[in-house]
Amino acid sequence: MASMMFTDCSSAATSRLIPLHRRTGAVFLRHCVGQLRLRTTSSERSCSTLSVRSSSSPTPVVSADANSEAAASAMVIDGKAVAKKIREEIAVEVSRMKDSIGLVPGLAVILVGDRKDSATYVRNKKKACGSVGINSFEVHLPEDSSEGEVLKFVSSFNDDPSVHGILVQLPLPSHMNEENVLSAISCEKDVDGFGSQNIGELAMRGREPLFVPCTPKGCIELLRRYNIEIKGKRAVVIGRSNIVGMPAALLLLGEDATVSIVHSRTKNPEDITRQADIIISAVGQPNMVRGNWIKPGAVIIDVGINPVEDPKAPRGYRLVGDICYEEARSVASAITPVPGGVGPMTIAMLLSNTLLSAKRIHNFR
Ligand code: GUN
Repeated sequence: MASMMFTDCSSAATSRLIPLHRRTGAVFLRHCVGQLRLRTTSSERSCSTLSVRSSSSPTPVVSADANSEAAASAMVIDGKAVAKKIREEIAVEVSRMKDSIGLVPGLAVILVGDRKDSATYVRNKKKACGSVGINSFEVHLPEDSSEGEVLKFVSSFNDDPSVHGILVQLPLPSHMNEENVLSAISCEKDVDGFGSQNIGELAMRGREPLFVPCTPKGCIELLRRYNIEIKGKRAVVIGRSNIVGMPAALLLLGEDATVSIVHSRTKNPEDITRQADIIISAVGQPNMVRGNWIKPGAVIIDVGINPVEDPKAPRGYRLVGDICYEEARSVASAITPVPGGVGPMTIAMLLSNTLLSAKRIHNFR
């Protein structure tokens, strides 16, 4: 029986977890998993080289069809290019709004503690805001702050008319109750879409959430911009996190796919993934999905961004996805690379949600 514990493209190889505190000076991007862990891989393994064929602009080329012929080499879904295009579109709208009603969208970010990865995320989010003309406000609280202090800032941002989106960077320190904090964010400003009202609306048929979580929204946006049909397709989501897996499955369902979720307790996950026309993987296990888990012609969206040790890389590590890229690209019809696939889309969707919020609050069309 295959398990969910594959960590690299060679099943003969083993990988070793390295504790978080031994990671220094590295930029760790995280979407969906709890703690990011750096894994060791041996350089001779088949998925050790990440070669990205970039496509300059998205074109309608792919059918996610069970019966289509296997492509010799999958088309690369260029998330970096799509995200850039979306940022440009947002910048135009932000300046139209400013010119028409004198209003600039604002995003407030609350960061608690000193996690390097979270600090990097927040820095990137603020930078992206600046690049499209959105105002950003940051509160950085020490690790030992109380939940009450965080709630105080949430409450003041809820009441602040210059703030249209509020984001509390996760994870919070373990002494805080994440649910309490997230549910304190006004649902009209919940640009992460993690609040129970927004998730509840997403889960209900015929209902529309005010905001959809950014990473899964980015996955669907990539499929949409590459004209990859979802309706009627068999989709498999790997991972069931609140941030990515679960909302991704709900979004696919809302697009009329037939959806299965594979998770850590799933028996023989490869039997299920092999039926998929579309796979979205958000599990945080480097190279877990092998080529033989994939049906020929499937479309692969890889959310995983996993640092693995690589002595040859300038920083001593490189990033790989959940999908064994080199194997998958000879089976799939289209695939997102890591990095440069889903990653850039997450921040683009955050900007998009912030703009959406400002437009809605000020009734600007
Ligand atoms: N931590 C990791 N990903 C996210 C995200 O998308 N939003 C927030 N708020 N925290 C995160």
